Amino acid sequence: MEAGILTSAPALVRFSGIQKTYDGEHLVVKSLDLDIRKGEFITLLGPSGSGKTTTLMMLAGFEVPTRGEIYLADRPIKNVPPHKRDIGMVFQNYALFPHLTIAENIAFPLSVRSTSKAETQHRVSAALRMIKMETLAQRRPGQLSGGQQQRVALARALVFNPQLVLMDEPLGALDKRLREQMQLEIKQLHETMGITIVYVTHDQSEALTMSDRIAVFNDGIVQQIDRPDALYEHPVNSFVAHFIGENNVLKGTVETVDKQYCRVALAGGGAVTARAVNVSGAGASTSLSVRPERINIVPDGTSSDGTNRLPAKVQNTIYLGDHALAVLDVAGNAEFMVKVQPGAHDSLRPGETIFIDFRPEDCLALDPV
Ligand SMILES: Nc1ncnc2c1ncn2[C@@H]1O[C@H](COP(=O)(O)OP(=O)(O)O)[C@@H](O)[C@H]1O
Ligand SMILES: [Mg+2]
Repeated sequence: MEAGILTSAPALVRFSGIQKTYDGEHLVVKSLDLDIRKGEFITLLGPSGSGKTTTLMMLAGFEVPTRGEIYLADRPIKNVPPHKRDIGMVFQNYALFPHLTIAENIAFPLSVRSTSKAETQHRVSAALRMIKMETLAQRRPGQLSGGQQQRVALARALVFNPQLVLMDEPLGALDKRLREQMQLEIKQLHETMGITIVYVTHDQSEALTMSDRIAVFNDGIVQQIDRPDALYEHPVNSFVAHFIGENNVLKGTVETVDKQYCRVALAGGGAVTARAVNVSGAGASTSLSVRPERINIVPDGTSSDGTNRLPAKVQNTIYLGDHALAVLDVAGNAEFMVKVQPGAHDSLRPGETIFIDFRPEDCLALDPV
């Protein structure tokens, strides 16, 4: 979807000043303000226990916010029961009815909405076609594979044309290959049906693959809400830099700040110039973030401009098919990763000292970890 369409779309869901505690003491959602636009695929991404499911359950109506209000199409919904919210749900464990056939499972949301028999038949057929399982309509869930069961759960969540669909780690129980295939299927369904999806996962590559925007959760707080490329290129803090994609950390102290850039003395020796993203000023501790694919190994005798040139000791190399990784010891970080062409890693000998460099704009000075 294009940025223009997204930014001009009205908010379908608004979390306003939301807090949640289960025990009256510890806030598991500390302060949540989040707008979800109509037609958007938004993912709540974060480690286990960061408050993603709790947030989704408050939107679904199975948990009540301790503070704040949630609006659905501009209507406060704190006191609206789950079945009156017009929301479809998909969970990790499928939650299909084992004694009902596939067709009956898919028809279930229609029966509780008193849909006519003809309309039900029509919609169930269309839903079965959508998940390419027309021939399996009379089977029971126990006779299907995990991937097939999750497709049925998907069809059941979509069959009543809800304005909003929530998915909580729906692919978590599937193996990697099937998971990646279903990521693309769900993404395609979202695009063809134009529905709004709120998706929960702890898997950053899944979030990057599927989402228009990602809200990164940590410890009950949204750290950053952004498009996938913006999260990767412009993380606002060390948590986001580390959680999204591969990341090298170098610890240091800010010496000088000059507009957007700062000069940082590394704890392990040497100094580099970095983008001053999240540093308070000269004298502050900082963690530098550099992506493995933004680093060059400088061959012997080549003179780089020297701004961010550092000695590195080769630890080992890892061959990964389409690329290789050089594991280096750089300024006290013994697991510093540099992405190299397969083949190029052959010439790196464990124990030898080489030089690396990277551009100041590819090195972010962030909060210390
Ligand atoms: N029903 C509950 N009662 C008490 N504590 C809960 C309940 N559900 C979740 N929690 C706690 O709230 C925190 C956030 O959990 P959750 O929202 O499930 O996180 P996530 O989905 O990101 O893993 C965790 O510390 C968890 O133990
Ligand atoms: Mg969860």
